[in-house]
Amino acid sequence: MARTRASFICQSCGAAHSRWNGRCEACEGWNTIVEEAAQAPVAKGAVVSSRSGRLIPLEGLQGTTGQAPRLTCGISEFDRVTGGGFVEGSAILLGGEPGIGKSTLLIQAAAALARAGHRVVYISGEEATAQVRMRAERLGLADASVELGAETNVEDILATLSNGAVPRLVVIDSIQTMWTSAVESAPGTVTQVRASSQAMIRFAKTSGAAVILVGHVTKDGQIAGPRVVEHMVDAVLSFEGEQGHTFRVLRSQKNRFGPTDEIGVFSMTGRGLEDVSNPSALFLSSRDAAAPGVAVFAGIEGTRPILVEIQALVAPSSLGTPRRAVVGWDSNRLSMVLAVLEAHAGLRLGGHDVYLNVAGGLRIQEPAADIAVAAALVSSFANAILPEESVYFGELSLSGSVRPVSHAGLRLREAARLGFSNAIAPAGSGEKGDRAISLNALPSLESLVADIAARGVRSAKRAAVA
Ligand code: TYD
Ligand code: MG
Repeated sequence: MARTRASFICQSCGAAHSRWNGRCEACEGWNTIVEEAAQAPVAKGAVVSSRSGRLIPLEGLQGTTGQAPRLTCGISEFDRVTGGGFVEGSAILLGGEPGIGKSTLLIQAAAALARAGHRVVYISGEEATAQVRMRAERLGLADASVELGAETNVEDILATLSNGAVPRLVVIDSIQTMWTSAVESAPGTVTQVRASSQAMIRFAKTSGAAVILVGHVTKDGQIAGPRVVEHMVDAVLSFEGEQGHTFRVLRSQKNRFGPTDEIGVFSMTGRGLEDVSNPSALFLSSRDAAAPGVAVFAGIEGTRPILVEIQALVAPSSLGTPRRAVVGWDSNRLSMVLAVLEAHAGLRLGGHDVYLNVAGGLRIQEPAADIAVAAALVSSFANAILPEESVYFGELSLSGSVRPVSHAGLRLREAARLGFSNAIAPAGSGEKGDRAISLNALPSLESLVADIAARGVRSAKRAAVA
């Protein structure tokens, strides 16, 4: 039996410290360090030597390895994000804030697979089987032969799973509730989460079952973060959405068997999550094209073009330090675009509050949105309505020049499909023959600002573009 000793583990990033501290030096989180009983890593006096080891066969890169067998669940957006289905023997971590719809998505996937004749086990550590059953009934899935269990002890779960035919899919909802008697820490601590995950991942690898671990992530990272599990699993999917919006986005952040940054879009309805196969149309459905401060961005998420509306409001501030608020985009990136607008286009924004919102609750991570954001900001500032038939994309450099971005052809084709006739983008975007819509090549930021200002019906009070 290994000796145990106390150590102080950050519940957010898993870093071990020798003493308690209010702030974790590794991840800079506050109040995240908790005392845990940890196993001594190597027994005192033990020497690692080559004599006790056995020889392992080393192989070349060339060889015959078939495609990993996959299990498609039939929910097309889910299958798209996993890269074409769950790979046998793989472990997937599905993270997301509480209440976003993780359990709903997984019971739907489990039921679809069970209906296709596969053995599927759904272990809930948070809800009683009656609750899971009630949800399934509401979703019209009660006839699917999913095997339900309400359990939190990993040893009991593994014994149950090893009994009978190997399940094709195992759902563990959630990994934070699991505990194993192999470690002494309380359930929910990093040590327990790590040990339980390790046991479930080992089960996946040895049995060939696909295992999905659910992990709650809170905004302040108080719960033992599944971050420590991220490097252990084969794929990390995150389920995102804004409270109050029905759109949910499933994003792959790491995938050993498929593309990363691929997204699946769902809408949460009274009958569970439904695939949204045409997200651009949905994100633009309630567009208010006749208002200043609104620009349509032709973006790419993974391999898929998505058009979204970017809304900006630039208003004179009554505060000493004007407000800058962003929903759905990077606030540092907004600061950069504002600084470039001030420095290179002469916009005086220092006395204005700036609000930026990506409509529909989508979170954009691409720098290609710079131009669309700049257009929306200038449009609001100059009180000028942007042309309804135009989409915007392109990256802005600190020098004020406009830089081309990848997948321009895809962006242009998607814009054409949705009825746009003009794109305002860096010169050289898309190949000539490939252009389904006209390209209004942007030489620089100044020309973008001048074009928008020329459309403006600026009120006399507003500070003009220099
Ligand atoms: P849930 O899957 O329990 O979230 P998680 O497991 O991520 O904590 O989803 C809970 C939310 O989803 C809840 O607020 C209600 C909503 N919901 C619907 O809108 N429609 C439905 O059909 C279901 C089952 C849930
Ligand atoms: Mg849940």
